[in-house]
Amino acid sequence: MTRKDLARLTRLDGQLAARSAQAMLSHQAPSGGFLAAVDFAPYRYCWLRDGSFIAFALALAGEQRAAERFHRWVATALSGIAPSMRAATESRLAGEANLAGSMPPARFGPDGDVRDDGWPNFQVDGYGTWLWSLADHVGRYGAGRLLDDLAPSVEMVCAYLEAVGMDPCFDCWEENGGAVHASTLACVYGGLSAASALTGREAARRRADDIAGHIVNRMRLGARFVKSSDHADVDSSLLWLAVPFGVVGADAPVMSATASEIEGTLCLDGGLRRYGSDSYYGGGAWPLLTAWLGWYHLARGDLAGAYRCASCVEGCFDDQGHLAEQVGGEARDPGGYQAWVARWGKPAADLAWSHAMYFVLWDQLNKREVPAPGGELLRRAGGSPEPSQPTT
Ligand code: BGC
Repeated sequence: MTRKDLARLTRLDGQLAARSAQAMLSHQAPSGGFLAAVDFAPYRYCWLRDGSFIAFALALAGEQRAAERFHRWVATALSGIAPSMRAATESRLAGEANLAGSMPPARFGPDGDVRDDGWPNFQVDGYGTWLWSLADHVGRYGAGRLLDDLAPSVEMVCAYLEAVGMDPCFDCWEENGGAVHASTLACVYGGLSAASALTGREAARRRADDIAGHIVNRMRLGARFVKSSDHADVDSSLLWLAVPFGVVGADAPVMSATASEIEGTLCLDGGLRRYGSDSYYGGGAWPLLTAWLGWYHLARGDLAGAYRCASCVEGCFDDQGHLAEQVGGEARDPGGYQAWVARWGKPAADLAWSHAMYFVLWDQLNKREVPAPGGELLRRAGGSPEPSQPTT
């Protein structure tokens, strides 16, 4: 495949990437938190998971100020739950069991408020992802006052994750609260590693090492990784072990075998589903995961695979530039899809996290020099979208 062929596969002109950057900014509340989606009532909340990846994508886009506002918003939200977070940490260190109903939340209201509404809140991945995203921001833009201002939050989250980070909790899809999940562990590993590099905290480094050892030695079935302590099948979030968290290299045989199984079993019309038995809104393909697969391909130097994924995500944008949470569920399982519509209404048609992951893939495809087949260097072809004016 020549460079020209590859370029035809994706919108190197950056129009869709610019649209995605704009969409992410439009989901930022005045407080700095990112609403997961505004067109879907259950998602008018700010998840640490979604927001941390959005802030990462915006940092790549040159939107330093918007990303920094998010990190400061996290610190404010955490200050509101500091007593319960410290209590959860201390009680775990004292050997008590975690009480799912009283653990720090996965999502906050835009003003950092916590609602007691029965949501399966005990999910630790977002806390790890936040540390990782903050460390990336500091590495990219310098620490300035940000790190000093956020030091108490970083310290508190590290202590929390060192204590509870390997315990059963709900996974990144907010399910399976009784298991330990490989992708959650990868987020905690990524966060603690990044925080220890940033602050020199030894306990974080040691815990990160324990976690990596646990994933590599205990979360496998034969040649590949498994989704969790309860599920031996694969889940697309296992790609996170390689990119961005680097528990193992993208080329490690166990990672290649895992990715092959993911591609072999979870593809739907070129996109990637979350896991085999997914029935949420018909269990369609998630553009954010398709973009992740592209990012993974790129990490392995498989440029054609990365472009294929980018092109597939680009085909999911609607005429107004919206990018949905998932596509294809309605046709795949009409009954299942309708049951969810009856329960919660139409699914999220414009998800900020989908835009974030498309942007990441676009950015990686276009900003870096990547060896193309034939030894050529495929250089940045489209130019980054111009950073917008600061939003405050
Ligand atoms: C997903 C979560 C996500 C949330 C908000 C849920 O359906 O399972 O991973 O954080 O939506 O986007």
